[in-house]
Amino acid sequence: MTKRSDQAGPTVFGCFSVQSVADAYEKIYLPRIFIPWGKRLIERAQLQPGDVVLDVATGPGTVARLAAERVGPRGRVVGADISPAMIAIANGKPPVPGGAALDYVVSPAAPLAVPDEAFDVVTCQQGLQFFPDRGAAIAEMHRALRRDGRLVAAVWREIALQPSFAALDAALRECLPADQAESYGAPFRWPRGEDLVAVLRAGGFSEVVLEEVRLPLVCEQGIPQALATLAASPVAPAVAQLAHEERATLWAVGARYLAPLVSDGQVRTHMVSNIVSARKR
Ligand SMILES: C[S@@+](CC[C@H](N)C(=O)[O-])C[C@H]1O[C@@H](n2cnc3c(N)ncnc32)[C@H](O)[C@@H]1O
Repeated sequence: MTKRSDQAGPTVFGCFSVQSVADAYEKIYLPRIFIPWGKRLIERAQLQPGDVVLDVATGPGTVARLAAERVGPRGRVVGADISPAMIAIANGKPPVPGGAALDYVVSPAAPLAVPDEAFDVVTCQQGLQFFPDRGAAIAEMHRALRRDGRLVAAVWREIALQPSFAALDAALRECLPADQAESYGAPFRWPRGEDLVAVLRAGGFSEVVLEEVRLPLVCEQGIPQALATLAASPVAPAVAQLAHEERATLWAVGARYLAPLVSDGQVRTHMVSNIVSARKR
């Protein structure tokens, strides 16, 4: 019988020591994934100075903060998320220098705790795939937009198109019970652009434009850093519970699957997402 890891305080994942999934998300995923992708989403939203923006599933305020910078002090940004822990992180950040006022609200995507027809633009980065009723969420975004307002949303394509995630998925399937490993792929399980377009059209949106975007993903500290991304993923609690020798095995198997992605000591790969924009007429 292997001994379970029962350490209190931070857990060491590869080269990172993390306190919680939210902490790991902030330290590991934000700079490498969600900020670069958020910049791409914001470009697509074509925000104007003075715009009023709603960011649904804002997490730690990633896109909300980029939007606040872009719309400037005459604008206003509201971020909504179902997770009080995420909203606490967002609220703990300093104001965006020279940016719009930012307010956060703990709210599910449906019903959304915001007024009718109050926003010029709604953004939603990697949130829709998690909503239990995507149609209801889209209807709520439509309600929140003023006439001629725009929606821009991003949803990952399938895990097979995300090489470092596919490598880690394969390692987890070898090392964890199937029901635990299964949760790792959750962010990638609504990959069809046609489905995204259909739900927007059914929700009353016009001028729906779908784009498939590929951006680089670099773990500059190599395999240990790529392994550390597990700390910000849905399997983090299961990995944290592994005994030391079981975790060592997972690191070794993960390293084997990641090895083909290494060049010059870095894990150099990419991610692929659908990005869709639409207008309320
Ligand atoms: C992958 S994170 C993306 C966060 C943020 N948009 C970003 O780019 O960093 C997904 C977010 O969706 C939120 N979420 C999940 N289900 C939700 C729901 N039903 N309503 C609102 N937010 C939800 C989670 O709390 C989490 O913050």
